[in-house]
Amino acid sequence: MSGSESPPPTAWTFTSASEEETAALGAAVGRSARAGAVIALVGNLGAGKTRIARAIAEALGVDPKLVTSPTFVLIQEYDGRLPVFHFDTYRLGSVDEFLDLGVDEYFEVGGVCLVEWADRVAGVLPQDVLRIEIDITDVSARTFRISAHGPLAQSMLDAVAVDVAESTRENG
Ligand SMILES: Nc1ncnc2c1ncn2[C@@H]1O[C@H](COP(=O)(O)OP(=O)(O)OP(=O)(O)O)[C@@H](O)[C@H]1O
Ligand SMILES: [Mg+2]
Repeated sequence: MSGSESPPPTAWTFTSASEEETAALGAAVGRSARAGAVIALVGNLGAGKTRIARAIAEALGVDPKLVTSPTFVLIQEYDGRLPVFHFDTYRLGSVDEFLDLGVDEYFEVGGVCLVEWADRVAGVLPQDVLRIEIDITDVSARTFRISAHGPLAQSMLDAVAVDVAESTRENG
């Protein structure tokens, strides 16, 4: 193993019984977000990628009403305490089309990037990524598996786990 390889990702699982619990998780992720963060959202149609993206953006000071999945928009930009870039790659024709949007610049300007359907463009995402994988377990239940791939993502994951544990203690 060479010295430049990153350590294995660490992962953490959160079970959400309602949209409100998902929003609370998203708020913790938003509070943890640092300039340059890239958050990969993975999960089927209706899993909750946009729902958690909205909560993350809101915690960054963005008006949540702006955070939607409009049909033909691949990148939305919102003003928060950091700039927030919201990508929805569902209708993207190819990875080249994604690169042609100039995504590398978005990744590097010190904002927070939220990427829905991130698996479709996994090969061209930066190396340091916080991955949020969502499974639909019931009509209103979801399992979130959050894994850190890189030091920035790891610091965010550590902060989220502490934040969620503290709010759970406070709220019973
Ligand atoms: N626990 C939960 N967490 C999040 N969303 C939930 C939950 N329970 C039910 N839902 C519902 O699931 C749906 C999630 O929709 P959302 O648009 O966020 O999905 P998505 O993953 O972005 O889908 P798409 O791939 O179509 O963009 C919403 O209608 C929401 O009300
Ligand atoms: Mg969506």
